Amino acid sequence: MQGRRVVVGISGSIAAYKACELVSRLRQRGAQVWVVMTAAARRFVGTATLRALSGRNVACEMFGAYPHHELEHISLAEFGEVMIVAPATANIIAKVAAGICDDLLTTTINAAACPVIFAPAMNWRMWNNPITQSNVKKLQELGYEFVGPEEGWLACGESRAGRLAGTEKLMAAIEKALGLEKTKLAGRRVVITAGPTREWIDAVRFISNPSSGKMGYALAEQAARRGAEVTLISGPTALQAPAGVQVVYVETAAQMAAAVQEHLLGSEVFIGAAAVADWRPRRQAEGKLKKTQGPPQLQLEPTDDIIAQVAGSAYRPSVVVGFAAETENLEHNALEKLRRKNLDLVVANDLTRPGSGFGSDTNAVMIIDRNGPRKRLDTAAKARIAAEILDVVEQLLGDQ
Ligand code: C5P
Repeated sequence: MQGRRVVVGISGSIAAYKACELVSRLRQRGAQVWVVMTAAARRFVGTATLRALSGRNVACEMFGAYPHHELEHISLAEFGEVMIVAPATANIIAKVAAGICDDLLTTTINAAACPVIFAPAMNWRMWNNPITQSNVKKLQELGYEFVGPEEGWLACGESRAGRLAGTEKLMAAIEKALGLEKTKLAGRRVVITAGPTREWIDAVRFISNPSSGKMGYALAEQAARRGAEVTLISGPTALQAPAGVQVVYVETAAQMAAAVQEHLLGSEVFIGAAAVADWRPRRQAEGKLKKTQGPPQLQLEPTDDIIAQVAGSAYRPSVVVGFAAETENLEHNALEKLRRKNLDLVVANDLTRPGSGFGSDTNAVMIIDRNGPRKRLDTAAKARIAAEILDVVEQLLGDQ
C-alpha cells in the first residue's frame, strides 16, 4: 500500500475506537491516510489520537476551522483513491442514501469519485430496521461496498449482528478496492467487446441498436483493476476509456470481427459484451440516397457471429463469456445459446425488467454455466455485476 491514498471516515459509534487500529495498520503498510470525523465520532475518540496515528490533521468542520482556503471536502474527495467509513452508523448510511450533505463526511462521500466502502456498526435492532436495510440495498445498487457487520458482542450487552467487521476484513476490502489483491486474472490477457456496431446503408444512414457499452466498459475497468492486460474492442459509445485498458475503436461488425481476430492470440479470457448487429445491408449505397427516390429496398445479410468464431477458433481462450439479452424464456434461451455457441458462461439479461439492459446504469442478470444457473444478481450497478462476473471467470480459471 506504499504511497496509496486512503480516506478514513469515522462516524459516531462506540466502535469508533477501532478505527484507530485501522488507521495505524494502514500507516504501517505505507498508506497515506486522511481521517475525517463527524461531531458524534469526536465524542468517542479524540482528534489528537487520530492526528498522531495518521500523521496529518484530522478533517472535521465544513466551515472556517482551517487556516488555508481550500475546499476541504473537495480536497478530501480528490485525495482518496479509496474511502472507507468505519464505523458507519445507521445515520450516516441513511444520510448518504438520501444524498444529504450536512457535514464534512457526508459532503466528502457525495463528492467522491473513488470506491467507497461502508463498515457498519450499530445496535442489532438498528441494523435490522427495514429502513436501514433498504438504505444499504440502495447504496449497494449504486455501487457502494459494504463489509460486515458481523455477529458478536455488542456494547448494548447482546451478541447479535451489528459488530464492526474485524480490521483484517477492512484491510482486505481496502486492498481489493485499490486493486492490490492477487487475483487469478493478474497478468492474464483478456479481450472484451463492447457497445453497438453500425451497419451502413449509405453515406449517412446506418442500422444499429441502443447499446451504451456501459457493461463492457465496466468489465474492462474491473479486469484491469485485477491486474489483467485488457484489450477492449469498442463500437461507438460516449464513454471514456477506462484507466489501464488498451481500447481499439471500431464501427462495423466486420471491423469488430477483424480486431478480435487480431488480438485473440495469447488471450485467456474473451468476453463478448458487444451488441453486435445481426444483419447488415448486402451493399452500402454510394453517397447519400435521395429521399425523392422513395424508400430503398434493403437486402440484408447476416454478419459474422464473432463470439461463435472465437469459441470455435484454434486459439480459443480458456474462458469464453457471452451475453444473452432476452425478452422471453430467459434461462432456456440463454442455456441454448451457451450450447450452440460453445461458451463457458452466459450472462443472461431480462430486457423486460426495469433497471436492466440497454443504456441503464444497473442490470439484473443470471450467470449461467454449462450446468445451468450459477448465480442470480438482483438489480445492481454494472460495476458490481462486472465484479461478480469476473469472480466466476476467476473460479473457472482456477479449475483448470
Ligand atoms: O445470438 P445473440 O446475438 O443473442 O448472442 C449474444 C452474444 O453473442 C453476445 O455475447 C454478443 O456479444 C455475441 N455476438 C457476437 N457476434 C454477433 C452476434 C452476437 O459476438 N454477430
